[in-house]
Amino acid sequence: VAPARQALPPAPPGLERGRYLVAAGDCMDCHTRPGGRPFAGGRPIQTPFGVLLSANITPDEATGIGGWTNAQFRRALRKGVDDEGQHLYPAFPYNYYTKVTDQDADAILAYLKALPPVSNPLHRNQLWFPFNQRWAMALWNRLFLKVGPFRPDPHRSAAWNRGAYLVEGLGHCGACHTPETLFGAPKRARAMQGGLIPSGWVAPDLTPNPRTGLGGWSRADLAEFLKTGRNAHSSATAEMGEVVNFSTAYLSDSDLDAIATYLGSLPPSPQARPSPPGKRVMAAGEAIYTDECSACHGMNGEGVSHAFPPLHGDANLQQDDPRTVVRFILTGVRAAPTASRPTAFAMPSFAWVLDDRQVAAVATYVRNAWGNRAPAVSPSKVRDVRKSHAYPRIR
Ligand code: HEC
Ligand code: HEC
Ligand code: HEC
Repeated sequence: VAPARQALPPAPPGLERGRYLVAAGDCMDCHTRPGGRPFAGGRPIQTPFGVLLSANITPDEATGIGGWTNAQFRRALRKGVDDEGQHLYPAFPYNYYTKVTDQDADAILAYLKALPPVSNPLHRNQLWFPFNQRWAMALWNRLFLKVGPFRPDPHRSAAWNRGAYLVEGLGHCGACHTPETLFGAPKRARAMQGGLIPSGWVAPDLTPNPRTGLGGWSRADLAEFLKTGRNAHSSATAEMGEVVNFSTAYLSDSDLDAIATYLGSLPPSPQARPSPPGKRVMAAGEAIYTDECSACHGMNGEGVSHAFPPLHGDANLQQDDPRTVVRFILTGVRAAPTASRPTAFAMPSFAWVLDDRQVAAVATYVRNAWGNRAPAVSPSKVRDVRKSHAYPRIR
């Protein structure tokens, strides 16, 4: 899935800051249906409780936010309450946007109000009962919402504070990269240690853990990834491809560096030492790897810089939850094209080529070869991933 590349509409003079903040918040990504008018809403957002359509946030008076005041808009970002006092769902990540300052909120609204108004009435709430009851979110907020705005830590540098504001606030990286409880609230003690998102991808560990996280990346590596969607270690795919295209590609070098400063300061996730898989499965996996994978990823998983990602030391591969690797193998994948790197390399789908046992063996192999270490993958896990995403089964 190569996400559509639609540029953020230009800002009229004086409103560039609002546009920049809208990019930092990734607002257009969720609020634009693929192929639809920018910010007119209606994009289905998957949640564990059903589907929500995003809102029309163009300045149309009747169906958008044309009539909203600065105070109403600040309240929506900070407390997840709309102009009529109705509760919004945290699929709109207000539990992160709550950190946005008043000044930034006003700049965002000013930019949105300068967009062309689009009339687009929507029946947004398509969640299942009882989750479709908006008032229940008042309880959720009481339990889980820590109302902002962001308060800088005077003991930290300006870059650290800027990074914290972007990551924990507008950038809402934790909405995907932090694991969640059954109630959809972030597990704060495990912030940025990797989360399973509703589409079935694992957004990996972003802490400085050297094996499962960004410990092996320099600050420049991270900035390059967020700017261009690619670096020597990895390429942005799935939801991350969209985040790069609609959001981080627009950020200034100093903001990208601030993000790296903040993420680099997090405590590394705990180092688990899973037991090594059996010799038989490793040998079977190695044989499949040599035949099917080594042409692109190299005999030793070294890859080809900026084209075929190296698999040794790769974090996506070594998450405890193997769903991302299994999915990459089943579906194949195309790196997201970005403005600065428009040609996307692709990996073919192996869903028709390898059966569950073979996928499990090669996945186990790449997770444990060349110094990698992660729990073995069982054929039944592969079957689950195939089933939940309706990928073809062979045999
Ligand atoms: C992860 C997806 C996502 C992102 C990112 C996102 N939104 Fe939303 N937004 C939604 C969804 C879904 C709703 C509808 C929520 C509901 O109906 O409870 C919504 C609702 C809203 C509303 C309420 C509108 C109304 O009429 O009630 C506003 C305002 C809004 N978003 C503004 C923004 C802004 C500004 C940004 C960027 C800073 C942003 N959103 C980013 C998903 C998102
Ligand atoms: C909508 C969900 C979502 C959001 C929001 C999000 N990410 Fe991601 N991210 C993912 C997924 C899924 C992956 C795994 C696929 C890939 O590697 O491209 C990923 C991968 C990454 C990677 C690559 C890690 C590796 O080892 O290959 C980095 C770095 C990253 N994200 C940083 C960020 C930062 C910084 C933010 C906030 C500005 C952010 N992400 C926000 C979903 C998200
Ligand atoms: C034709 C070349 C090609 C072949 C053959 C191939 N891949 Fe890939 N692979 C790619 C490309 C290109 C990407 C980058 C896509 C992206 O991440 O955006 C990739 C990405 C991956 C990733 C994700 C790495 C990351 O974190 O970004 C994994 C895991 C992977 N391949 C494993 C395999 C395995 C296992 C096989 C054999 C069963 C295989 N690949 C065969 C080209 C190939």
